[in-house]
Amino acid sequence: MTTPPRTAAATDLAAILPELIEFLRIPSVSTLPAHKADVQRAAEWVAAYLHRSGLDHVAVLPTTGHPLVVADWLHAPGQPTVLIYGHYDVQPADPLDAWHSPPFEPTVRDGNIYARGAADDKGQVYIHLRAVAGLLAAGGLPVNVRFLIEGEEEVGGAGIEAYVRANPAALACDTIVISDTPMFAPGTPTITTGLRGAVFTELTVQTGRQDVHSGLYGGAAPNAINILCGIIAGLTDAAGRVTLPGYYDAVRPIPAAERASWAALPFDPEAYRAAEVGAPALLPDSEYSILERTWGRPTFDVNGIEGGYSGAGSKAIIPARASAKLSFRLVPDQDPDAVIAALKARVAELCPPTATVQWGAAHGAAAVLLPTDSPAMQAAQAALQETFGRPAVLTRMGGSIPIVSLFQSELHAPCIMLGFGLPDDNLHAPNEKMHLANITAGITAMRAFLRHLAR
Ligand code: BES
Ligand code: MN
Ligand code: MN
Repeated sequence: MTTPPRTAAATDLAAILPELIEFLRIPSVSTLPAHKADVQRAAEWVAAYLHRSGLDHVAVLPTTGHPLVVADWLHAPGQPTVLIYGHYDVQPADPLDAWHSPPFEPTVRDGNIYARGAADDKGQVYIHLRAVAGLLAAGGLPVNVRFLIEGEEEVGGAGIEAYVRANPAALACDTIVISDTPMFAPGTPTITTGLRGAVFTELTVQTGRQDVHSGLYGGAAPNAINILCGIIAGLTDAAGRVTLPGYYDAVRPIPAAERASWAALPFDPEAYRAAEVGAPALLPDSEYSILERTWGRPTFDVNGIEGGYSGAGSKAIIPARASAKLSFRLVPDQDPDAVIAALKARVAELCPPTATVQWGAAHGAAAVLLPTDSPAMQAAQAALQETFGRPAVLTRMGGSIPIVSLFQSELHAPCIMLGFGLPDDNLHAPNEKMHLANITAGITAMRAFLRHLAR
């Protein structure tokens, strides 16, 4: 193996844009059955890229859902092995009319590339593909590398979960690296040391056999929407605390040192309220700051609600059926299964005898806290310092990446999250974007990271 040049030449945007655009054009929406062939096509695109770059054992592995892409390059004897994880699936693009350019026609404006998946996570997967390709073209990698890129992250990751449980040996590694998070602020290199967990389910309330006339039956017939709203209201108290028995018992307090380091981050609550949330006021909380609440505290939210009549005008009915999509964001050491069990017990208490409830399937994952003292952490800090000219900040983030907790428990390797997105990238929203300079910086940083990891 030849040693790659110490300082990688800055990546030429003109050389990478056509590749990135080709990848982003594939509408790999994992939740929509109509896009199944596109999801497969995106997997094949990743595999072909890895193959062309010179990786070995490149394969598109079928799962019960969408395929996994695996590959390796293990020609650096005596050096550590890095597992690179990412996801090539994306969220649905709707509402389509809110996009300034079509979600699957990647468009460059003001130094950003706009497309569904630009930051979450295809653009960031591309950083790793290109970094490794560049090093291989320059002679070889300073460490051993495995790729594991999934197509079901946005739908809970059942396929990768089964694969990791069944094949830990095929994934043996010393470090796991993931780029699927934003930086704390533009120009501020960021290492994410924790993610919240999450659990999602759906509750349906049924009263009568079918809707009835609200004049003829109102006063006697139970209303499924009224009851559903009552149940939902009973899941939190006046202060917004979740009322599931034991919900807070397992919550690990945020260590004082971490609270202090978050308090020292440059964060403007008023700008966050106005520019990001847009609400007239944020939820009140006398105990926890905004960063603490979104990174280190659990939540309950209703994500969607359906029932009755919502067309134009009014309709005089008492609805017989109503449903709501419910979710919790979890923190260490809450157990997603225990939360679902507590939810079902509490709803059974809250539901009046005038209705019955049914539950949809639940899916979710536990929160993760990652070690901050691993050799990978030092390599990442050095690489980011070198690339951005300033030290990285350590944050947690409120989002979830379901497979990370299983990586920790099954692969026994420290995981490091180096994200190159920005806070205003519109993840899961219209006009998702990725800052192109962060793609090239990400490539430079990843090349440096692999170099610093070498013994
Ligand atoms: N990349 C995100 C998670 C993320 C976003 C972490 C921002 C930290 C900061 C990921 O693709 C995602 O959307 N995850 C889902 C998982 C869920 C569907 C189980 C999430 O967090 O809702
Ligand atoms: Mn993601
Ligand atoms: Mn996502």
